[in-house]
Amino acid sequence: MVMVLSGKKIVLGLTGGIACYKSAEFLRAMVRDGAQINVVMTDSATHFITPLTLQTLSENPVMVSQWESHAGSPLSHIDVTRTADAIIIAPCTANFAAKLAHGIADDLLSSLCLARPSHVPLLIAPAMNVEMWMNQATRRNIAQLKADGVGVMGPAAGFQACGEVGMGRMLEPQELLAETIAAFQPAVLKNKRVLITAGPTFEPIDPIRGITNRSSGKMGYAVARAAWEAGGEVSLVSGPVALPAPHGVARHDVTTAWEMREKVMSLIADQDVFIAVAAVADWRVANTSTQKIKKTGSAPQLQFEENPDILAEVASLKKPPFCVGFAAESEKLIEHAQEKRSRKNIPLLVGNIGEEAFGKDENELILFDAKGHTVLPRADKLVLARSLVRHIAGYL
Ligand code: C5P
Repeated sequence: MVMVLSGKKIVLGLTGGIACYKSAEFLRAMVRDGAQINVVMTDSATHFITPLTLQTLSENPVMVSQWESHAGSPLSHIDVTRTADAIIIAPCTANFAAKLAHGIADDLLSSLCLARPSHVPLLIAPAMNVEMWMNQATRRNIAQLKADGVGVMGPAAGFQACGEVGMGRMLEPQELLAETIAAFQPAVLKNKRVLITAGPTFEPIDPIRGITNRSSGKMGYAVARAAWEAGGEVSLVSGPVALPAPHGVARHDVTTAWEMREKVMSLIADQDVFIAVAAVADWRVANTSTQKIKKTGSAPQLQFEENPDILAEVASLKKPPFCVGFAAESEKLIEHAQEKRSRKNIPLLVGNIGEEAFGKDENELILFDAKGHTVLPRADKLVLARSLVRHIAGYL
């Protein structure tokens, strides 16, 4: 497992909202990823969850009052941010966002945020009633915080504890973890639009049967996640896979190569980067049957027709995005990959080391461009995806 937060010191601030119950799970998720957590709570937060719970989970004392000395030093409420790698306020109430936006420091947590060194990132996970979130004052405060460089994680829309429905739910613990990890990745694709295909396609023979390619979708999904972490606005066109959509990524499900082509073409305008990771079936069945083909003692004769080459079509557009292809070869990878790169007329082609990568969490990649090739040694697919994304950003 890749632990991005390993050794990172994070100050987790809780303010008074019902979403505090999710913060315990978020804290655990960060600890599991290797982070050291110091919890600071507002007095209101202690009405929703006890300091003891968070102290037990973080294995560190929890700070609430600015009038007690912490760790023997009356100034340690400031010290704790001096060595921090990030401050995260989750949940962040409308009231606390207003204080942050106006530089008010009237309790320990708000003082600590105001006194934080400028290099320490501040992230907030707003959690509030939908009307509070939509209120002009909150809109102004959130816009101000974004302009000040504060990272705003969520909120999400949905059912709220107060019984209303709408924007203002705090993100789920795993989503907050994904956002936190992303905050530690270089934002090399900031403001870039990235379209990615992933997974296999499935071409029907009859309503029951079909032909497909071997692909779990893991590599494509890792690339989508890494592109989102790098600040990209990511759309993922996915064939049938058993994976959840990465947080922050707009996923579009398709089945056949033709549907994948249609979806890609409908989204391609204004994309900066197109990464074709999907294992698209090269042929579809021309004589599909509308009913299940019965066994008659002799094998049915299938006829095939070629599917559109989505990558080649995108690369031949008048103003194509930066195009990246993937190649899984069973032999002579280097020769075939360079030939494929020139034939499809794309600047970058990524070679999988072949069958060994299917369905696995690890892979080894070779990047082919006009100058030659670079090996990304065997690693977790997400680690490789992050490295690939940085390579791609280098060409833009
Ligand atoms: O030609 P080949 O299938 O080996 O090329 C692989 C690359 O082309 C991959 O990036 C794949 O996603 C893309 N491709 C495509 N449409 C096809 C076949 C492949 O976009 N019909």
